[in-house]
Parts: sequence; structure tokens; C-alpha cells
Amino acid sequence: MNAKKLEFIDLKSQYAALKDSIALRMQRVLDHGQYIMGPEVKELESQLAAYTGAKHCISVSSGTEALLIALMALGLKPGDEVVTTPFTFAATAEMIVLIGGVPVFVDIEPDTGNIDASLIEAAITTRTKAIMPVSLYGQTADMQAINAIAARHGLAVIEDAAQSFGATYQGRQSCNLSTLACTSFFPSKPLGCYGDGGAVFTSDDALAQACREIRVHGQSARYTHTRVGVGGRMDTLQCAVVLAKLERFEWELAQRHALGARYGELLRGVAGARLLAVRPGRDCVWAQYTVFVEHRADVQAALNAQGIPTAVHYPRPLHRQPAYAHLHQGPELVHSVAAAERVLSLPMSADLSHADQDRVVAALAQALSS
Ligand SMILES: Cc1ncc(COP(=O)(O)O)c(C=O)c1O
Repeated sequence: MNAKKLEFIDLKSQYAALKDSIALRMQRVLDHGQYIMGPEVKELESQLAAYTGAKHCISVSSGTEALLIALMALGLKPGDEVVTTPFTFAATAEMIVLIGGVPVFVDIEPDTGNIDASLIEAAITTRTKAIMPVSLYGQTADMQAINAIAARHGLAVIEDAAQSFGATYQGRQSCNLSTLACTSFFPSKPLGCYGDGGAVFTSDDALAQACREIRVHGQSARYTHTRVGVGGRMDTLQCAVVLAKLERFEWELAQRHALGARYGELLRGVAGARLLAVRPGRDCVWAQYTVFVEHRADVQAALNAQGIPTAVHYPRPLHRQPAYAHLHQGPELVHSVAAAERVLSLPMSADLSHADQDRVVAALAQALSS
């Protein structure tokens, strides 16, 4: 019947729409030849800082590197603890562990998939240095509650905003809600480049300066290494790509919101598909459009047979991953485990057509009823 295979994330239509702009901006870089720290780097950082409202944006080589640089800027030391969620991509906890820190996992809200702010305070010890919520699927966690806890205990908050650039929380932009925020420009993210890229945001001048230095091997001036850093710059060419993509980002966000709402309306009538909750005062940019289903493997196979790709973000919470399991000795994190068994991400991108969206929903309804 419907043999055409859908794109899980349709980057091809986006490229077709932006082809001329991308070519022009990339050509400019090739002409001036400043491939590292060229003028597009500052141009992008200024635009993104203005967009989010954060005072500083420091572009870096990936979302993972953004997390590492943010943690290093805070001066995280071996043994220091960071309270975070286990229901996330590995990079969140990985960068804490890489510099000797200890991720302390607390469970999620079963309906949003985000860290349950009401459980954070009980996880704080004298070694806690920071709280790292993840804005999963493109919706921020309860940042007001998290910031209040952090203020009471003198902790920093790092928003892992890899999936939420463009989202808002009580009228403020994701990436401008906490001490530091880290986003990713991985190609499939709401704002992506054509390789690896990312950014750190902060309104704290000293932390911004630390991030800038850490990004270039801890240099405060050329060949003056005042601290230990990394090679973490974002390529000028990738900055040029993001600048081009910003030209229709507002349109893409509006599309994402409309398509997310439309998925919600269509799926509300489908028995067996539980929707992600979006809390009042927040919006979701749907980096992934994720639902909860039972018998997920069967549902995925049925959709796949109809040419509909799906993905699982994420199949195993970090406290059950071989590399991190030893870090969690407390009671089972039941909501994280339950979510990991049930989440299913459906095709989503700004260029998804209503016809294709209808096809996804019909196939899902059929799979869930059989
Ligand atoms: C929640 C989260 N954190 C961090 C990252 C890492 O970003 P990057 O792939 O740009 O290193 C990702 C990317 O998938 C992510 O989803």
C-alpha cells in the first residue's frame, strides 16, 4: 500500500528550503578562510545570546563538550556530586564522571519524563555542587522549583538544554533559566548544524570568561594557559550553517508547536497511546515527539513494516547502564525504568506534512489495536 518510507527527521526538506542561504554563508567562510574562530563564530554567539536573553553565549564543539566545559567552569572536583536524572542521553552523566564527579540520580515525573523536582532536596549532601536537569524532548523541567532548591543550598544549576533550544518556561527562553545552560547543534536537534556543535549560556561574567578560556586550552591570552582546558571550539563553517538555519527558525518553531498540538489531538482518540504531559507555563519544541505505549517492540515492528521509522529515547535509564550502575545504590527509580520500557518517538520535524502525520497516527492506531 503505502510503500514510501518516511523520514524520522526530515533534514532534506529543510536543506532544500535553505540551500541558497547555506551555500552563500559557507562560501563566505571559504572565501575569508578563517575556519577556526572566524567572524561567524561571534556573529552566531551574539544572535543566540540575544535570542535567549542570556548575557553570554560561548559556542563549543558539541553538546557534550558544552556540558564538560560548564562543569569545568564551575570547578567541579573529584568526589563532588551533581544531582541529575537517569532518564537522559548518556552525555549528561558521562561528563560529570569524566572529571571525577559523581552523578546522583533521582527519579523522573512519570508524565513529563523530566526530573522530579520534589525529590531533589533529599538527594543533596555536603558534597553536592550542582543540579543538572535535562529539558527532555524539548520541554524544560520545573526550573523555578529547582532554582529555589539550589538557592537554599548554595548550588549551581546547569540546564542540559540539548533538546530544548527555542522552548520557553514562564515566558523565558530555555538556556536562560539557570546558572549555566548547554545546548547541542547535532544535526537532528531543533536547531542543528551539519556536524557537531553546541553552546554554553550564562549571565555570569566570570563563568563566561572561564568557559571561553577552557574552550581554547585554558588560554587567557595566546600561549598563556591560566587553567586546564580542552580543544572545544565550534568550527566557523558550522556556525555559518546555524546562522543560515536561524533565518527560518521562528517558522520552524511555529510548525513544531502546531504539529505537536496536532499529534496530540489525533492521538487523544487512539487507545493505548499515552501522551507526554506539557505543563502550564511551558512549551515543548518536540525535539522528539514521544508517546508511551505497551508492547513497544511489536508496535515498532508494525510501524516499520509500513515504512514508518521510530526511535527510543531512551531504552535504558543510566543507573541501569553497565558504566553507571555502580553509582546508584538507593531504591529503584521506578518511573525512569517504566518510561524506558514504554517510550516511543514518532517522526517529527518542521517539514512533516499533515498527510504523513495522518499516516503515522493511522498506523500507530492500527498497531495498538491488533
Ligand atoms: C540530553 C542530551 N544531552 C547531551 C547531548 C549531547 O549532545 P552532542 O551530541 O551535541 O554532543 C544530547 C545529544 O543527543 C542530549 O540529547
